[in-house]
Amino acid sequence: MYLKEEVLKLQALTRTLLAAAKNGIKPAQIDDLRNVLKFHEYRYYIENDPLLADGEYDQLYKSLEQIEAENPSLITPDSPTQRVATVVTKEFFTAPHLVPMLSLENSYNEDDLRDWDRKAREMAGLKDIEYCVEPKFDGASISLVYENDHLFRGLTRGDGIEGDDITTNIKQVRSVPLSAPFSKYGIQQIEIRGEVLLTKANFKKYNDWLATQNLAPLANPRNAAAGSLRIKDALEVRRRNLEAFLYHVSYVLHSKKDMPEQLTTHGGSLKFLWDLGFRSPEKEKKVVKGIEKVIAYCREYEAKRDDLPYEIDGMVIKVNDLELQDKLGMTTHHPRWAIAFKFKARQATSKLLNVEFQVGRTGSITPVAKINPVPIGGVVVGSISLFNEEVIREKDLLIGDTVLVERAGDVIPYIVKSLADVRNGTEKKIKFPTKCPACGDPLVKPEGEAAWRCININCPAQVVERIIHFASKDAMDIRGFGDALVKKFYDLGFIKDVPGIYRLPFDKIRELEGFGEKSIVNLSGSIEKSKSQPLHRLIYAMGIRFVGETTAKVLANSVAHLSDLKKFTEEDLLELEDIGPKVAGSIYQFFHNKDNVAMLEQLEKVGVSLQNTKKQHDGSGNLSGMTFLFTGTLPTLKRTEAEELVEQNGGKLLGSVSSKLTYLVAGEDAGSKLEKAKKIGSVRIIAEHEFLKLINK
Ligand code: IVH
Repeated sequence: MYLKEEVLKLQALTRTLLAAAKNGIKPAQIDDLRNVLKFHEYRYYIENDPLLADGEYDQLYKSLEQIEAENPSLITPDSPTQRVATVVTKEFFTAPHLVPMLSLENSYNEDDLRDWDRKAREMAGLKDIEYCVEPKFDGASISLVYENDHLFRGLTRGDGIEGDDITTNIKQVRSVPLSAPFSKYGIQQIEIRGEVLLTKANFKKYNDWLATQNLAPLANPRNAAAGSLRIKDALEVRRRNLEAFLYHVSYVLHSKKDMPEQLTTHGGSLKFLWDLGFRSPEKEKKVVKGIEKVIAYCREYEAKRDDLPYEIDGMVIKVNDLELQDKLGMTTHHPRWAIAFKFKARQATSKLLNVEFQVGRTGSITPVAKINPVPIGGVVVGSISLFNEEVIREKDLLIGDTVLVERAGDVIPYIVKSLADVRNGTEKKIKFPTKCPACGDPLVKPEGEAAWRCININCPAQVVERIIHFASKDAMDIRGFGDALVKKFYDLGFIKDVPGIYRLPFDKIRELEGFGEKSIVNLSGSIEKSKSQPLHRLIYAMGIRFVGETTAKVLANSVAHLSDLKKFTEEDLLELEDIGPKVAGSIYQFFHNKDNVAMLEQLEKVGVSLQNTKKQHDGSGNLSGMTFLFTGTLPTLKRTEAEELVEQNGGKLLGSVSSKLTYLVAGEDAGSKLEKAKKIGSVRIIAEHEFLKLINK
């Protein structure tokens, strides 16, 4: 898309504009400013290789916003600012696709593929056919129309003939260009198909956020993408950070003489789209001759499926030559020139044996389905959270039902549906309890919440869950003090609250069966060590409602001692980064509850540090200004330990390899990240001992 000279020119222009931004960029420079912003968006969203710090981008973007606000006549429809929409859609109107959107024929094994290839060869009268093979992205399909170089319309698939107009939402997907120079190739109108998706990381982030709001998480990235496209508030769509791959040119209106040569093959059209600034599977695709090479590439991709940042559910094989595609034509349902090769399903059916009701540490009651254990994608699944009563009703679940279970990638397993057709009449209704299964107190359902709750703060189940959470890996990290042991000690009366962890009766524990001197030493050692955990871990460990690890860090950063938080008003809390009214209210309540205050005092008394011994990210430390990423197995450090060392020493962690990365610390069996870092060249690749040297350890 950008030639080397252009990159250099735009980089130089970037520096000039950044320098000018301090005193205000002139309206006369608006075109330069837009070109620079578009270039950096391209580097970030399409190439995944930014050349600018986020803060610098923001600065330029704000300059553009300001110039446009002061000179509205200078606004153009494809200005980078024009994605941002405060539009709230009332309803989606439908519009026809230029060419019907067909679905693909599926194949599930190599022989299916060989069969399909044989038929195609017979029809084509060829010995070998050239195919383009690319991932089958697991998202929601879209179709885009560009007219006179501008994004004119974006539609959902709908019934294949017409779809819902979701143009405003599509504009929130930052890898979809608002304009592209098609007219350079004599193209007046073009229809492009693709898939909108959520990366696994963004999907997890979104679900984590839902969990802090006590809402049921979304089942998989595919549902999340499809649902996101139908949200009526464009800003909310933007917040989900959707991405898109565009993989098919379905219609082109052009003046013949300029028709680009590339548009005569499928692989060529992917390259064409890529060169025009679209994120097509140009880097993921492979053009090969003969079905055996197709099969080999499918298998190769299947093996790295779990390492990809997004979900794919198979590969798509397309006849590369577009003229041959036309010749092969289509059946009533699908084109004969393409087929999907589906990877092994991560679904299974099983029987719903029972539903248990668990009490969480905040008292929320979670129904958990117990199913006949089945292996799905290499893991045996026996328990599945159903989140809340609503989910049971929505899915119309009965005890004894045959249920379809899915486990996608790293995602937690979930029940897709019950197979109502195979019921035999012996199935039973699921009764939601009205009393807490642990303490017997009546359950309540606060207005606007999805979960029933036990509000008895001394409910034994809640106490146990709070202790388990306090000791857990991401909280105080008390090794060896897991679920089972906490429960056992609680039942034996050895512990009755969180501070009790620090007063365990080791003389009695020593007498328990299976407790050798070594396990006593280990347990008391890790309890002792936890007393000096950094403050943000302690805050997270206290289990304040809606306070996850990120908010805990924000809170820790704003105080010198934990009890300082008692002085914060709700308004003070709202001033802090990313804290909204709901979270602020919950924090305020927590620190104004006398039981909680007493707990903190007790913790301090038994020796737990409530001091902020270090401020996170204060820009000092040996690693300040540097970014790190770890890959492979390190010889001595655990991944979390290594990451903590980075943060403690003022460094920053990155989630993926890009030119922004200073150091990739590679251990044994480092894979694709190492390859990518080598390719980029500017990333320094070091081993654990070199990393330790950097921080003087
Ligand atoms: S080509 C006429 N290519 O899979 C051919 N589809 O099961 C149009 N999909 O509806 C489709 N990745 O939503 C094609 N690389 C890819 C794809 C892909 C995902 C989806 C698409 C389609 C469905 C068919």
